[in-house]
Amino acid sequence: MKLNRRSFLKHFLAAGSLLAGAGSLLSACSGITRSDLPNADTSGKLTVPLDEIRTSILYHASLAPSGHNSQPWFVKVISQNEWIIGADPSRRLPAVDPQNRETMLSLGAFAENLALAAGTFGFKAAITVIAEDSLARDILQVSLVPAATIDYPLQRVARRMTVKNGYLSTEIKKSDLDALSTPLNGHLVYFPAGTEHANCIREGAIENFRIQAQRDDAQRELVNWVRLGNEDARRRRDGLTVEGMEIRGLKGWFVRNFVQPEDFLQPGFRRQGIDQTATLARQGGGWLVITSRGQTVADLIETGRRFERMALLARERNIAIHPMTQYLEEKAGINQIAANHQANMIPQFLLRVGYLNRYPEPVSLRRPVSWFVQ
Ligand SMILES: Cc1cc2nc3c(=O)[nH]c(=O)nc-3n(C[C@H](O)[C@H](O)[C@H](O)COP(=O)(O)O)c2cc1C
Repeated sequence: MKLNRRSFLKHFLAAGSLLAGAGSLLSACSGITRSDLPNADTSGKLTVPLDEIRTSILYHASLAPSGHNSQPWFVKVISQNEWIIGADPSRRLPAVDPQNRETMLSLGAFAENLALAAGTFGFKAAITVIAEDSLARDILQVSLVPAATIDYPLQRVARRMTVKNGYLSTEIKKSDLDALSTPLNGHLVYFPAGTEHANCIREGAIENFRIQAQRDDAQRELVNWVRLGNEDARRRRDGLTVEGMEIRGLKGWFVRNFVQPEDFLQPGFRRQGIDQTATLARQGGGWLVITSRGQTVADLIETGRRFERMALLARERNIAIHPMTQYLEEKAGINQIAANHQANMIPQFLLRVGYLNRYPEPVSLRRPVSWFVQ
């Protein structure tokens, strides 16, 4: 039988689960990960050069999570201690995040990491919202003010990551939940696996993923952020790499070398994505819902900051969290949530949660500081 690329892909899809099991065979041929790339690349152009401490503060800020790993931030350096953090319009996700809600949450996480890192270097970061709405370009103003050094393990920021596979079904312990709840200050709710509400969230997460998988504009937008080949990943240092999508071993090698991002638009790939999401959604110890007081830029930035503080604590306690956002992006999901909850209960994150036996090292890539500083 002659095997052209199309039939090769078809066979690959059919054999997907079989290949997934062959993981260890080709572990030597792995994809590019964060530790393969130096973070001190200075190939960008800075109008005001930053010293090592300030570069390190911004590097740690950039380890924040973001939807599709779009890293939607830029930083305008006014002076050594005065910066503007903005939302880069070329990094928006209009098909799934038309109002920049998720961009604001990601900028909040960026701001939180920035404040923590600044504290360890003896600066208080005074961060104020300057944007009037979430579609503005300049969002936050940062002033670094000399202050007493805070004792915070910055390694925590470097080790946080989104994990999707390998969740245990154990319920989250009360002591851990109390710790994770502290930064959220009343805006975190936990639904243990098996409860009626957890089942409802799980089914909604799967259903809205399915709806989004059929929306061409959303899938084309996703394709723009998929970095399958190592060279592409190295050149762009953003988006979703094969390692970041947790496609490992023989399957990962195949995807890196033979699959094109546009293949994700094929019905077979879409179906496989839905099946995988359904499998993942059934793993773990339940769901966390993070809510906010309102929908202003300040509310979203504050929620992103609190979310990041929680995510850093979760990593320390061997707890994985996986945002599953389609429920909050699709009209059907948004309407269903609005119809069944009070108006002041505004969910901003739906997170699958679970303990891990072993926490992996972070793999998602980041642009070097000089690439996002102006
Ligand atoms: C607002 C927001 C929404 C996200 N939504 C999803 C999602 O729906 N599915 C998913 O797998 N990951 C989601 N993520 C996780 C990102 O894909 C992840 O943060 C990014 O790839 C960088 O990886 P890291 O968190 O390991 O650093 C989301 C993250 C944020 C901040």
